[in-house]
Amino acid sequence: MDRQAKVATGRFLVTGGAGFIGSNFVRYVREQFPAAQVTVLDKLTYAGNPANLEAFAGTPGYDFVRGDICDPQLMNELLARGYDWVLNFAAETHVDRSIGDPGQFVHTDVYGVYTLLEAVKTHGAGRFIQISTDEVYGEVLADASREDAPLMPRNPYAASKAGGDRLAYSYFATFGLPVVITRCSNNYGPYQYPEKLIPLFATNALEDRKLPVYGSGKNCRDWIHVNDHVRALVALLETDGVEGEVFNIGAYNEKDVLQIADRILRALDKPDSLIAHVVDRPGHDRRYAVDSTKLEQRTGWRPAVAFDDGIAETVRWYQENEAWWQPLKSGVFWEFYQKNYKFLDPGEPGPES
Ligand code: NAD
Ligand code: TYD
Repeated sequence: MDRQAKVATGRFLVTGGAGFIGSNFVRYVREQFPAAQVTVLDKLTYAGNPANLEAFAGTPGYDFVRGDICDPQLMNELLARGYDWVLNFAAETHVDRSIGDPGQFVHTDVYGVYTLLEAVKTHGAGRFIQISTDEVYGEVLADASREDAPLMPRNPYAASKAGGDRLAYSYFATFGLPVVITRCSNNYGPYQYPEKLIPLFATNALEDRKLPVYGSGKNCRDWIHVNDHVRALVALLETDGVEGEVFNIGAYNEKDVLQIADRILRALDKPDSLIAHVVDRPGHDRRYAVDSTKLEQRTGWRPAVAFDDGIAETVRWYQENEAWWQPLKSGVFWEFYQKNYKFLDPGEPGPES
C-alpha cells in the first residue's frame, strides 16, 4: 500500500479534537478519508466544544473519549489500542489567559505532551505530530523565521508550547519516536472560540459591542485559513522521511489588528466607532512571520485560500451561526472578559445589557 492509501485508511488519534483546529482536522479527515478511523480524545475545557463534532457522533469509524492528556493511565489505555497517526492539538491556547494563570499552560502544554509521548513510547504509533506554533520564535521584527531560528518565546503560552515542542523532539532524538513538529501561524475560520481576535471581533460587531484593540493595533500576524493548516498536516502525513523534523506553516498574509478590524466592520456594514483602543497586552509580540519554503519543497503543499475570500466566508459563517457562538458567550466567557477588558470604555455595554 502506498503512503497516501495508508493515510486514507489509517487509524487516527486526534487529541484536542473538540477545539477549533482539531475539529476542522477531524471534519476534513471524515470527508476526505471515509475509510479512516478517528478517535478524538478531549478534556472538554472551556475551549472544547462537543457541538464542533456533533455531526460525527454515532457514525461508523468515529469515537470520542473524554479525558486529559496529563492522565498517564488513560493515555496508556488509549495508545494500547494502536494508532497509525497521532496528532496532538490538545493545549491551553489563549495568550491572555496564560498571562493571568500560567500554571495550567505549563501543565497541559508541557507535562501533557510528556505523558502522551510516554504512552507512544510504550505502545508505538506510525507517526506523532506535535502541533506547535510560530509563537515559539518570539517576536520577529524583520524577515521571516526559518525552522532553525532560535526559540525566544516571550509569553507563558509560547514558552509552554516551546517546552512541548522540544520535548517531542527529544523523544525522537533519544528514543527514536517518529515525531514531526509543526509551527503554524495564526489560524482563522469557522468553529474558533470567540476569545480569539477574529471570532471575538466578528461576534462583538454582530452584537454592536466594542472591538477592543490592544495598544496601537499595529501588531502583525500571518493569518492562515484553518483548512490550509489542515491540508498541510495531511501533506506531512503523506510524506516519507520527515521524522525528527520541524515544519513551519504560514500563508504569507500579514495583517495588523486594525486591518482585521476594518475587514470585519466593512463585511458587516458596522461603523468604525465600534473600535476601542484599550491598554496593551503585557509582553505583546509585535509581529510573527514564518518562512514555509521547507514544507512547500518537501510536500508540494501551498496555501490555497485567498485572504479576501477566507475572511469574507469566515465572517459570514459567524453571521449565519449565531446558534453556535451565542451559548459560548456566557458564564466562563464573561468572567474572563470582564477581568481582561476591565479597562474598556465605561460606555461599553456589559453582558447583561
Ligand atoms: P483550542 O483552544 O480551540 O482547542 C484546544 C482543545 O484542547 C480544546 O478542545 C480543549 O478542550 C482541549 N484540551 C485542553 N487541555 C486538554 C488536556 N489537558 N487534555 C485533553 N484535551 C485538552 O485551540 P486551537 O486553536 O484549536 O489550537 C489547537 C492546537 O494548535 C494547539 O496546540 C495550539 O497551540 C496550536 N496552534 C494554534 C494556532 C491558532 O492560531 N489557533 C496556531 C498555531 C498552533
Ligand atoms: P490572538 O487571537 O489572541 O492570537 P495571538 O496573540 O496568539 O497571536 O490575538 C491576535 C492579535 O490580536 C494579537 O496581536 C493581539 C490582538 N488582540 C487585540 O488587539 N484585541 C483582542 O481583544 C484580542 C483577543 C487580540
